[in-house]
Amino acid sequence: MDIKKQIKPKYHITPKYGFLNDPNGLVQFKGVYHAFYQYLEKVTPQGKKSWAHYTSKDLVHWQDEGIALRPDRWFDKDGCYSGNAIVFNEKIYLFYTGNVRDEDGGRETYQCLATSEDGKTFVKHGPIVYLPEGYTSHFRDPKVWRDEEESLWYMIIGAQTSEKKGNVALFYSEDLLHWNYKGKLLPETMNWGYMCECPDIIHFDDNYILIVSKQEKIIENGIEKDSCNAVWMSGEFLKEDGKFIPNSDECKLDEGFDFYAPQSFIDEKNRTLYMAWMGGGEYDYQMSQPAVKDGWLHSFTYPREFVYKDNLLYQKPVKELETLRDTEINKNIEAEKIDFKLDNFCNEIKLTLQEQKDFRFIVLGSLELEYDSYEKILNIKRLNWLTNRFDEKNISIEEDLKTVNLFIDNSSVDLFLNEGKKVISIRSYFKEDNIQIDAKGKLQLSLYLYKGENSNE
Ligand code: FRU
Repeated sequence: MDIKKQIKPKYHITPKYGFLNDPNGLVQFKGVYHAFYQYLEKVTPQGKKSWAHYTSKDLVHWQDEGIALRPDRWFDKDGCYSGNAIVFNEKIYLFYTGNVRDEDGGRETYQCLATSEDGKTFVKHGPIVYLPEGYTSHFRDPKVWRDEEESLWYMIIGAQTSEKKGNVALFYSEDLLHWNYKGKLLPETMNWGYMCECPDIIHFDDNYILIVSKQEKIIENGIEKDSCNAVWMSGEFLKEDGKFIPNSDECKLDEGFDFYAPQSFIDEKNRTLYMAWMGGGEYDYQMSQPAVKDGWLHSFTYPREFVYKDNLLYQKPVKELETLRDTEINKNIEAEKIDFKLDNFCNEIKLTLQEQKDFRFIVLGSLELEYDSYEKILNIKRLNWLTNRFDEKNISIEEDLKTVNLFIDNSSVDLFLNEGKKVISIRSYFKEDNIQIDAKGKLQLSLYLYKGENSNE
């Protein structure tokens, strides 16, 4: 096996060629899952984005359906930016932001509609929401959902207020075509950075959860820099007032190295699922990835399910991934070191801790997990391809660490701790073909090699 070729994910949505960022328009229509992504033919982060289209019957195998929306009209000529999809009256409705640059380099923004009856061809209907007063033109990423109680459609839009503060604009509609502006959704007394991108609201009965991809300035080692994180908090959605009042602290939805712009949708089984962009970061970090040489960049995360239990938000890999399991290997490890060769970089590795004892787990030469059972901290090191040094995260588990579930799909890695209480997305270009575990106590290792050829070509 040539390790250098084990780069392109097989089961994560990844562009054949070109650049991928946010997930858009995630929806299930007549049984088929549709996913679109922000796409550029050229492998570079900025440009006139299109919506590339993939479909799947099982959330595991995805088929390329070409380009659904191109930036070719006056209202979206500089990019069909992010948005979502809903199904109504046997049609898919796509909501997206038309990005327009004027001659002086200024920005205009239009929230646009496109529909499809067959899930293959999309008809543009132009702008349906214009920029209200009180905001800059950093106003984008509509997310629409149905409120059955009120028989209304809601739309939230990521925004920057005229005071250059992040917020979310709320609209409502009875027919999906005519939209009324309600106001700023988020309390202005709180810190929402300088821009909230890709807002989302999910709910489990009366428990509402807001998700935003928040952009803010932070100071690190005395230097001011931009920080972009997808965060969530629970709260009350006061529909009459059009306000979301948080009642929990802000938490990162994913504590990994490569994660941004998550988008949720409800599927026909009534599950609240989401995918996110497994990517982002500064230009050099993105462009120095080995994938760029092969003509593509970035992937989504695996589809994940949100589960809300005992006031906690869990994220789980979708059940359908289990259908990929082929060979299964189980091993009991007790205060020993093991070294194991893997000839397949598409797999699942699960560690079940039977004792709260330290362990060190080296994955394919570029990723290391080290558990400090006294402090209950999992230290994660990932070899950075730009600096050739390890980036590090200390994940505070706050309780016993019971399970570590690693989903490796060539360079895309989704890591779930304690059955999805904490999630970590990692891009990792692996260097070795072995895993090593040095356990001080009792651990159970379960390894599932996935079906099919390893190579994605
Ligand atoms: C988030 C984002 C969105 C925008 C899109 C453009 O990554 O900046 O706000 O719609 O990407 O590609």
